Amino acid sequence: MTTQPTDRGLDRSTTNEATARALIAAIPDMIFRIGVDGRYRGFKVDSEADLLTPPDEVIGRTVHERLPPDIAEDLLAAGRRAVEEGVVARFEYSLELRGELRDYECRVVACGPDEFVVIVRDFTERTRQARELERERDFSYAVVRSTPSFLALIDEEGTIIGVNRALEQAAGLPEEEWLGRPFWELFLAVEDRPRARADFDSMRRGDPPGAVEYEHVSVDGERLVVDWTATRVPGEAGESRYLLCGLDVSARKHVEDEIRRSRARIVSASDAERKRLERNLHDGAQQHLVSVSHAVHLGVRFMRTDPEKAEEHLDRALLELNAAHEELRELARGLHPQILTVRGLGAAVRALAGRAPVPVTVVTTDDAQRWPAAIESAAYYVVAEALTNVTKYSGATSAVVRVLQRDDLLTVEIADDGRGGARATEGSGLGGLKDRVEALDGTFRVESRPGSGTRVRAELPLVPERSEVPT
Ligand SMILES: Nc1ncnc2c1ncn2[C@@H]1O[C@H](COP(=O)(O)OP(=O)(O)O)[C@@H](O)[C@H]1O
Ligand SMILES: [Mg+2]
Repeated sequence: MTTQPTDRGLDRSTTNEATARALIAAIPDMIFRIGVDGRYRGFKVDSEADLLTPPDEVIGRTVHERLPPDIAEDLLAAGRRAVEEGVVARFEYSLELRGELRDYECRVVACGPDEFVVIVRDFTERTRQARELERERDFSYAVVRSTPSFLALIDEEGTIIGVNRALEQAAGLPEEEWLGRPFWELFLAVEDRPRARADFDSMRRGDPPGAVEYEHVSVDGERLVVDWTATRVPGEAGESRYLLCGLDVSARKHVEDEIRRSRARIVSASDAERKRLERNLHDGAQQHLVSVSHAVHLGVRFMRTDPEKAEEHLDRALLELNAAHEELRELARGLHPQILTVRGLGAAVRALAGRAPVPVTVVTTDDAQRWPAAIESAAYYVVAEALTNVTKYSGATSAVVRVLQRDDLLTVEIADDGRGGARATEGSGLGGLKDRVEALDGTFRVESRPGSGTRVRAELPLVPERSEVPT
C-alpha cells in the first residue's frame, strides 16, 4: 500500500537540525536508515531489547543478514520504490523476537538520493487486544444466543432494541415485530402491563433497578411466570440503555403451588382424623364409661338394702366396661393395626383380604418380608382403602392384591373386575392416598375406565433414609 505523504512547515527550508532531532526522539517507533544497497546506515530504538540483533550488529549489515529473506526482499523493494518514485510504502509483517511471534507495521520513505528510512511500529499488543475483544464478543454472542433466559435490550423510552432467541421463541414473534415497540406491550399478560410500565418509569427516575415478577402469555397460550432483572448499560453515545434478563420460573411456581396445596390437604386430613377420633371416643368408650359410673353408683347404693338389685347394676357395669374396652381396642387398631407392626405387610394385607365380602387373591413375593415402617404403613392404607372401595362401589365378583418388590421399588396394586369409573379427587379417600404416597416420593395411579374394572397402583421407592419418616 502506498500513500502520498503530507507535511506542512516541516520541510528542509523550515526545519533546522535541532528540530529534526527532536522529532526523531519524540517518535516512539523504531527508525532505520538504510541505503538502496540494503545496508543499514543508522537507527534509533527506545529499547535495545526491541532489536533483532545486538546494537553493534546493525550498522554496516544488510537487510538480508538481519531479516528473513522474504521480508528483507519486500523491504528493499519498497525502499527502492520510495527513492525512485517519492512515495511512502506501508506494509505489515510478523517476526519471531526471542521466541515470541510479534506483529509489525512499517512505513518506508525516501530520505536522500540513495537511501530511505523505515519506521517500524510493534502492534502485537494491539492485535492481541483486538483478538481478545473479538473472542469476548463471540463468547457473549454465543451466550446470548444459547441461554434459555430471556434477554431484551431496551432504550430510555422502554423501546425494544434487541431480543435473544429464547425470548423470540417464547413470544412466538420474529425480531422485526419486536423492534421499536415498548417492551410492556409484548408478551406480557395484559393485567401486568401497567405495573411493568410503572416499574420502568421508576427505574428511569433513578430508583435502582430491582427484580420483578410478571406473568406472560406464550405463543401457545401458556401462562409463564418470569422473574426479571434490569441492568443499566451505557449505549454508544453515553445514553442509558437497559438489559432485561428474565428467568422462566413457571415450573418452580407450579411445584411450589402443588406442595402448598398438598400440605394444606395433609393438615386438613389430620384435622379431620382428629375430629373423627374425638367423635368416636365421645360416642363410644366415653358413653360406656358414663354408664359404668352410673351402674357402679347404683350398685353401691343398693348394696345393703337390695343386694340382688345391686348385683344387677354391677353386672351391667361389667358389661359396659367390657364394651368400653372393646371400643378402645377397635379404635387403637384403626390407628395402627397391630398385625402390621408385629407381622408385617404381607400378613396385614392377607387379614384385610380375608375380611372382604368378595374373594380376594393376594400375591406377594414373600409374606414374611419386611420394609421400612413408613413404606409398610402407606402400602397398608392403600390396600385397605382400595378394598373398602371395592366393597362399597365396584360391584366386583373378585379382586387381586399384589405386593411385589423389584429392585428398589415396592409396587402395591389392587385390581377388581367391577364397574370402574373411580377417580382420585382432592379430599377423597383415593386423593388422600395419592398425597400419602407422593409424600414418600412414590407415584400413585388409578386406572378405572367405566365397564373395565379398577386398578389402583402405588409405587414406593425404597430409599434407605425414608425408613426414618414417621407414619
Ligand atoms: N373400585 C371402585 N370401583 C368403582 N368405583 C369406585 C371404586 N373406587 C372408587 N370408586 C368411585 O370413586 C369415588 C372416589 O373414591 P374415593 O376417593 O375412595 O372416595 P370415598 O372417600 O368416597 O371412598 C367413589 O365415590 C366411587 O364413586
Ligand atoms: Mg373410598
